[in-house]
Amino acid sequence: MSYDIEKSVLERYEEGAKNYQPSLCCPTEYDSQFLRIIPDEIIAKDYGCGDPTKYVNQGEIVLDLGSGAGKNCYIIAQKVGKNGQVIGVDFNDEMLKLAQKYQSKISDKLGYKNTHFVKGKIQDLKLPLDKVESWLKNNPINNLEQLRIFETECDYLRQEETLIKDNSIDIVVSNCVLNLVKPNDKKQLFDEIYRVLKTNGKAVISDIICNEDVPLEMVKDPELWSGCISGALREDKFIKMFEKAGFKQIEILAKQNEPWQVVNGIEFRSLTIKAYKEKSEQINNNSCCPSTSCC
Ligand SMILES: C[S@@+](CC[C@H](N)C(=O)[O-])C[C@H]1O[C@@H](n2cnc3c(N)ncnc32)[C@H](O)[C@@H]1O
Repeated sequence: MSYDIEKSVLERYEEGAKNYQPSLCCPTEYDSQFLRIIPDEIIAKDYGCGDPTKYVNQGEIVLDLGSGAGKNCYIIAQKVGKNGQVIGVDFNDEMLKLAQKYQSKISDKLGYKNTHFVKGKIQDLKLPLDKVESWLKNNPINNLEQLRIFETECDYLRQEETLIKDNSIDIVVSNCVLNLVKPNDKKQLFDEIYRVLKTNGKAVISDIICNEDVPLEMVKDPELWSGCISGALREDKFIKMFEKAGFKQIEILAKQNEPWQVVNGIEFRSLTIKAYKEKSEQINNNSCCPSTSCC
């Protein structure tokens, strides 16, 4: 790859947090009753492509991957109520700042605070990036030995100060973000969604999918990648990623009839999918030792 995919995504959405970017918008209708308490600036800077918030219930703990300006989180905050929680994860400082700008005002209107915005990469949900940044301030990296120490520190943080713990989330939602994760990290991304979900928890993901593989020349275009085009997976491959991570009962909840965009003859459209983390299969009783002498 001749460019840094993550940098192009960071820069595009840093700009998107500051100024509304119409090219990033894939029009979506939300239930208007939940928009009343959300400030116009948050509503305007919506870069989603579906509505995963519909599938959230009272009292649940919800994780929103790539929470952006926080619109989905603030809708979910109302749906889960004061006994539920919503955690928005994003790696972009400007987006996190924007999401947090109205947090107290919205909490005051609701009469409770159940939203949290944290800095992390959605494909590495164990690593608390704010702690990594604090550590780096005192421990700059100038040689391989310092790099090794840094990597050890990251392992320590993942282990001891885990950002999102195993089996801790009822629903993982995401709105138009998975496609932005670089190709080599995509498998780990789906594994992470599975890891953080409780047994019987579900993922409800809206994302852009396509009807043909995206050719390399499009993948190499930073505008197309950060614009939610080139990182899109072919629909069957997208579903396969859930299967490979261990998800069951995979169901398509919504899919645009007309493509959102057609680029070089390839159709890109929004899809919302639901998938469950089921109890892992019981060990065959015949192969188990009797309880008194269990190995
Ligand atoms: C297309 S916007 C969608 C924002 C929001 N979900 C919405 O519906 O408006 C993508 C967001 O995901 C964030 N993002 C992209 N890749 C990410 C990654 N690997 N880890 C964390 N956040 C990421 C971007 O910073 C941006 O805020």
